[in-house]
Amino acid sequence: MKTIIEPFRIKSVEPIRLTSRPERERMLAEVGYNLFGLHSDDVLIDLLTDSGTGAMSSHQWAAVMRGDESYAGSPSFTRFEAAVKNLMPFKHVIPTHQGRAAEAIMFSIFGGAGKCIPSNTHFDTTRGNIEASGAQGDDLVIAEGKDPQSLHPFKGNMDLGKLEAYLQEHGDAVPVVMLTITNNAGGGQPVSLENIRGVAALAHRFGKPFIIDGCRFAENAWFIKCREEGQADRTIPEIVRDCFAVADGMTMSAKKDAFGNIGGWLALNDDDLAEQARGHLIRTEGFVTYGGLAGRDLDALAQGLSEIVEEDYLRYRIRTNEYIVERLDAMGIPVVKPAGGHAVFIDARAWLDHIPPLQYPGQALAVALYEIAGIRSCEIGTAMFGRQPDGSEKPAAMDLVRLAFPRRTYTQSHADYIVEAFEEVAAAKDSLRGYKIVKEPKLMRHFTCRFEKL
Ligand code: F0G
Repeated sequence: MKTIIEPFRIKSVEPIRLTSRPERERMLAEVGYNLFGLHSDDVLIDLLTDSGTGAMSSHQWAAVMRGDESYAGSPSFTRFEAAVKNLMPFKHVIPTHQGRAAEAIMFSIFGGAGKCIPSNTHFDTTRGNIEASGAQGDDLVIAEGKDPQSLHPFKGNMDLGKLEAYLQEHGDAVPVVMLTITNNAGGGQPVSLENIRGVAALAHRFGKPFIIDGCRFAENAWFIKCREEGQADRTIPEIVRDCFAVADGMTMSAKKDAFGNIGGWLALNDDDLAEQARGHLIRTEGFVTYGGLAGRDLDALAQGLSEIVEEDYLRYRIRTNEYIVERLDAMGIPVVKPAGGHAVFIDARAWLDHIPPLQYPGQALAVALYEIAGIRSCEIGTAMFGRQPDGSEKPAAMDLVRLAFPRRTYTQSHADYIVEAFEEVAAAKDSLRGYKIVKEPKLMRHFTCRFEKL
């Protein structure tokens, strides 16, 4: 059969509400054109993030009832730990309430003033935790990873030449080497198994632990299976195990590829490091067998980990993004290619080229998508990154809009609606105007700033 269907039936539905365009215009004005300010029940299709927004399966909801809320030694933890170790063979698995908590614990150990931490691209919260410790994070993704039009199959790969030079230059200042799979900040682009092994070999040659940010490990493994030589006949769990077998630890947001609405973990092989991490965990998150989660959450994640590696699911998951990218591309809309694992990225600076970067073309597109079609997306550009530490403002490297897809939540007709919405935005494109920021906080302004239409 040619059609790739959603590999599930729907047992419980969550109504979504169609609003009128005048209603949406009024709400946009009320929230200062900042989509983070909207009530989610005024959003028709919410593509703000794929984090914690997925649909749990009937088996996961059944697992929720099995959850055991004992403070210490809960069987829910035993099941969770076994499910993680089945895919990621680390000695110590330390649960946390979400990914950034795992990062905070990790950089309380590895971070500190003067330290330098390389990755392909650090995600914002990872960078935030590195910088909060006084250390510096550096992004060493391959050049193709920064070119929206390059069709390289593994645009998330680390530049191994740059990493080697970096390790030589910074020597003892490097406490750990990181790698994010898939590379979220670089468009959800995958990292090849060969590159993962290359990064591990380099890190180990220089005596550094190698830690994977594994949030979207299953999507990454699917790309390896489809695109990397010699991997086509292997199962997803086999590929996943190979990826993590060469690492010394991982951080994880279980809100992504564990089908959780909440959760995360830090895994490590080293006994001393794990002991330090558990010390921080008890102080900040909770006891070592629940780490800020309820027993029922741990059981839902254990079940989710067995579902996320199913090939029918991954095929449908990745195909949705490819479909939207193909359709937008055919309409002449500049999109990041090839499609990423969890999101579609539109190059708003290239598309709305009559709006200069300092008038936020990404924000103009995101607002238009909501105004015209009730779709919420996210600007990843000058509104998010433009303000400099010295108070000045400059254009970000790119002005992108991200459509991030919650897992198992929307269907093919939603995908078609999204494509149609872009047809309408395209028709109105030349009349779209830029914005100015009229009120902003000191830090991370994109969450709460107010815009005015120019
Ligand atoms: N690492 C990566 C690669 C991520 O994408 C995220 C979250 C985190 C770490 C932090 O995990 O949210 O559980 O604390 N990304 C979400 C997003 C928020 O929308 O991309 P968390």
